[in-house]
Amino acid sequence: MQWRLDLPDELATRWLGRMLAQTLSPGSILLLNGDLGSGKTTLVQSLGQGLGITEPIVSPTFSLVSEYPEATIPLYHFDLYRLQPEEISELYLEIYWDGEEYPLGIVAIEWAERCPNLPSEYLQLCFSAQNSGRQVDFVAVGAAHQQSLQQLMAAYAQTSPEAHLAPHSAPHPASHPTTPSAPVALTPLPAPAATPSAALGPLGGDR
Ligand SMILES: Nc1ncnc2c1ncn2[C@@H]1O[C@H](COP(=O)(O)OP(=O)(O)O)[C@@H](O)[C@H]1O
Ligand SMILES: [Mg+2]
Repeated sequence: MQWRLDLPDELATRWLGRMLAQTLSPGSILLLNGDLGSGKTTLVQSLGQGLGITEPIVSPTFSLVSEYPEATIPLYHFDLYRLQPEEISELYLEIYWDGEEYPLGIVAIEWAERCPNLPSEYLQLCFSAQNSGRQVDFVAVGAAHQQSLQQLMAAYAQTSPEAHLAPHSAPHPASHPTTPSAPVALTPLPAPAATPSAALGPLGGDR
């Protein structure tokens, strides 16, 4: 199951992260792919906010994994950027999703394309630059992850009907997903007030 979504500015990426917090479940695995500065950490930050994490989320460069067991669903955040495939194998990532040693949570893996052994089920997000914003291609494998993606698509469809109908807008789903009006199945999120990322330009991140 696949889906493509345009993220015209940083607020759209943050909307997506907060929506994922509402649609993912314990045991979800997010594979985050894309170049440096494409928005992976931004997504995990907003996912964490949606899970009630108040401490700042940065990429776990030296610790390899940041664990947030107190979140509404535990969050395990990896960044594989600096690792070789054999080092990644030695991390035994699977202990974070087999539910034995750690409570089942959401595992978010930046640079997942470097992972030599993918889990059997996952939600993959591939970020790429798109004008001054980003585009994300989703692939959902497994029933639970497909259900999460379906919920996300439904939330997006309910987010901004006027944007979908605007005469000059590109065909769905290219419209702006950051002005939710009244999602039915999911808790409404406050509409963002500004677009602070506009001045930052494409792929202008710290990692
Ligand atoms: N949809 C978007 N459009 C424009 N800029 C974005 C978008 N999403 C995130 N950004 C910006 O991209 C930069 C890099 O994001 P970051 O999350 O650090 O990337 P990564 O973790 O993939 O290296 C940040 O400055 C962030 O504000
Ligand atoms: Mg990052």
